[in-house]
Amino acid sequence: MLLAALLLWLLQCPLEPWSAHAHPLYTRLPPSTLQVLSAQGTQALQAAQRSAQRAVKRVATELQLKLHECRGPDWRPAPPAPPPPAPASFARPCGERRPAAANVTRAHGRIVGGSAAPPGAWPWLVRLQLGGQPLCGGVLVAASWVLTAAHCFAGASNELLWTVVLAEGPRGEPAEEVPVNRILSHPKFDPQTFHSDLALVQLWTPVSPAGPARPVCLPQASPEPPAGTPCAIAGWGALFEDGPEAEAVREARVPLLSPDTCQRALGPGLRPSSMLCAGYLAGGIDSCQGDSGGPLTCSEPGPRPREVLFGVTSWGDGCGEPGKPGVYTRVAVFKDWLQQQMSAAPSTREPSCMELLAQDPPEEYPADARLCAFYARRCPLPEGACARLARQQCLQRRRRCALARPAPSLWESPESAAREQRLDSGTPASPAAPTLCDSGASPLPEGCPGLEPLRQKLAALQGSHAWILQVPSERLAMHFQEVLADLSSKTLTGLFRAWVQAGLGGRRVAFSGLVGLEPATLARSLPRLLVQALQAFRSAALAEGKPLGGLPPAS
Ligand code: ARG
Repeated sequence: MLLAALLLWLLQCPLEPWSAHAHPLYTRLPPSTLQVLSAQGTQALQAAQRSAQRAVKRVATELQLKLHECRGPDWRPAPPAPPPPAPASFARPCGERRPAAANVTRAHGRIVGGSAAPPGAWPWLVRLQLGGQPLCGGVLVAASWVLTAAHCFAGASNELLWTVVLAEGPRGEPAEEVPVNRILSHPKFDPQTFHSDLALVQLWTPVSPAGPARPVCLPQASPEPPAGTPCAIAGWGALFEDGPEAEAVREARVPLLSPDTCQRALGPGLRPSSMLCAGYLAGGIDSCQGDSGGPLTCSEPGPRPREVLFGVTSWGDGCGEPGKPGVYTRVAVFKDWLQQQMSAAPSTREPSCMELLAQDPPEEYPADARLCAFYARRCPLPEGACARLARQQCLQRRRRCALARPAPSLWESPESAAREQRLDSGTPASPAAPTLCDSGASPLPEGCPGLEPLRQKLAALQGSHAWILQVPSERLAMHFQEVLADLSSKTLTGLFRAWVQAGLGGRRVAFSGLVGLEPATLARSLPRLLVQALQAFRSAALAEGKPLGGLPPAS
């Protein structure tokens, strides 16, 4: 009798219970839903491939134009590189906003994701891109330093793949993209708890004081403002939970909350000594996915009000949910670490891959011995066993860096004396337009300003998009094989934790996500699952260093 009733219930249940483990708290999405997911996944893949092709093509074209420009009849080699620039000094002190921008946004900002910020309103807000894809926000805190969240680099700490897009100007002057020289995650960052979720990113070239980007103030002496102070958040993050990313910067005002209120709202996951929370317990206004690493600034009053960075966007429970304010890394607590890192003498730090690889010729001991001084810092004598070992260590690091660079062919410099000659004498190069391959593998003409960042950008793009660029379009189909939802894990937004298995080409990935089990919640959860699946395929391909489907790289 009981068995019959159970059977009847099973038959009525639109979702098949998880038979493999015979656990009543799991349910498997039916094949029809998997089909819908697969079809949408395939579309997402096609879109991702198109956008990767566009991104690579755009930079390849820029690079070709630059090469033409440098090899053209009017090109002359630039004079030797100037000594390292003195620290840039900005005309305005830190944290100053343009008066118009400050007026526009002082009054309010409301609704999840806030309101659109006028161009140039947040001159210190930057965007961190992995292989050309925006992933996180960041905050310019000095001419060469960006502060962001350490969790942005989880699984992608290779600085050769990252670039920073600086703030655009007030009249929409285009934003500058700068390669990353070094990523310094806080040594105590814990990816499980998000404790010490802070990282410093050193830019390859300092920000020009003549440009629109300028640094925010760090809370050196300023005491943290009291609870209730309205502060500002800004970023390109999602407009609502699981929603699309904003096309332009958005901003909102959120009040700081007391440590007690934060702790009550968010429970033991919140560590008030190094995290602060801000927002409205009623919900509605908050930062969201993609805003991580961005600023929470509070205005310090005075004749010339300045914005001081008290928080860096870190985590939240959903976005704008009632009773769940956003959590920000408490910057003031880390000010000594920040100061130490930003003022450290170059010889106290291991040379970065960017520094080592920027040296020519590529596979030899760096011509600039200062780069390797770090390894010999404890050697009693400039020659001898210790110094030899130091040399070896430096060489080894350089080799490791060479392996980590995204597209080796773009970095190889088969130095051709004839071509060097041609470039040096300013005679036009071969009339044939350089192909993508040619422009990548050709030697770097010294003194061609802007060429190196473009080459790096192209290399990074090709490396990070290789996983999808190399899949033939007829193989571009995603198959969702199984989605198992844990019925006991319903969130406040009506979603369930789920174990997802998907395939693309010969590759299978599995990850956990959130899924809705009713039509409305299911529809809402699909985009996020698709994004996660794409990310899982990309990480799997990058980790194995092979394109999807195990195909040989395109020739
Ligand atoms: N961790 C998110 C990110 O990586 C930021 C989440 C902020 N969430 C919030 N509800 N305030 O972008």
